[in-house]
Amino acid sequence: MKKITIIGAGRVGETTAQILAEKELCREIALFDVREDVPEGIALDILQTAPFFEFDCLLEGSNDPRIMRDSELVIVTAGFPRKPGMSRTDVLESNVRIIDEVTDHIVTHAPDAMVLIVSNPVDTLTYRVAQRTGWSRQRVFGQAGVLDASRMASFIAQETGFSARDVTTLVLGGHGDTMVPVTRFCTINGIPVTHFLSEERIHAIVERTRKGGAEILALRKNSSAYDAPGAAVAAMVDAISNNRRRILPCVALLDGEYGETDLAMGVPCILSEHGIESIVDLDLNPSERADFLRSAAAVREDIARLGDIH
Ligand code: 2OP
Repeated sequence: MKKITIIGAGRVGETTAQILAEKELCREIALFDVREDVPEGIALDILQTAPFFEFDCLLEGSNDPRIMRDSELVIVTAGFPRKPGMSRTDVLESNVRIIDEVTDHIVTHAPDAMVLIVSNPVDTLTYRVAQRTGWSRQRVFGQAGVLDASRMASFIAQETGFSARDVTTLVLGGHGDTMVPVTRFCTINGIPVTHFLSEERIHAIVERTRKGGAEILALRKNSSAYDAPGAAVAAMVDAISNNRRRILPCVALLDGEYGETDLAMGVPCILSEHGIESIVDLDLNPSERADFLRSAAAVREDIARLGDIH
């Protein structure tokens, strides 16, 4: 890709910019943030790591939304992070207002871009951006499942002592406590994880995955996670930029898949230079289906609250 804009130069935005630059996933990165001077400072700081990481990616920052002109991809990380004890839903109202403003900038200045939403609550905000732009689901989607699956994979690697690179996990549903880690599809180099871990241990890992973001927030105290979220966004950008057609869990607008419509939540998608090419509609067993429906209901509750926010 030639140009990517990152909206929100907070910790997730900054970490994402650093990884995208190091991996040379595009030629140019624009950082937009409303805080005076901050995006310029961050862009300069990352740019000065170029000699160490040997990248030729250009970075610039600005408070002027025109900086996003000609972007092929806009990554939205702007918004208030939650504080310890808060759920992702608690920041809904304040973040909807920010995301609406950001969406209008994207429509004006980057009308041909794909939009990758990272801000929370990500399922509901992805839905909001899709509604407000009227753009197809192919080009408006969110990041959550890649992060949740990487958390689960790292827990399994820790618990079994095997390499994290051999662990494959799948997490569906909304990015909240009701997310659906699907252990039936979790393997270590193709071998079901149940071969190595007891039901009880797997259950503990599922629960820890569901609360993975809150665990880090409680430990870091003044910040949500940003290292793994930045890496998860970069993995999605890599799939797009290199047209890999990876199957990755993305927050996608459902149109009949999994029996749902008018809803955005995490499902496995084929991600390529065209954005979301299609959704992989898995046959869930009754207990997975029940968990999925519970998660869908939780996201629907948030979406219903959007009607009261103007
Ligand atoms: C997380 O899961 C903040 O949603 C983010 O860490």
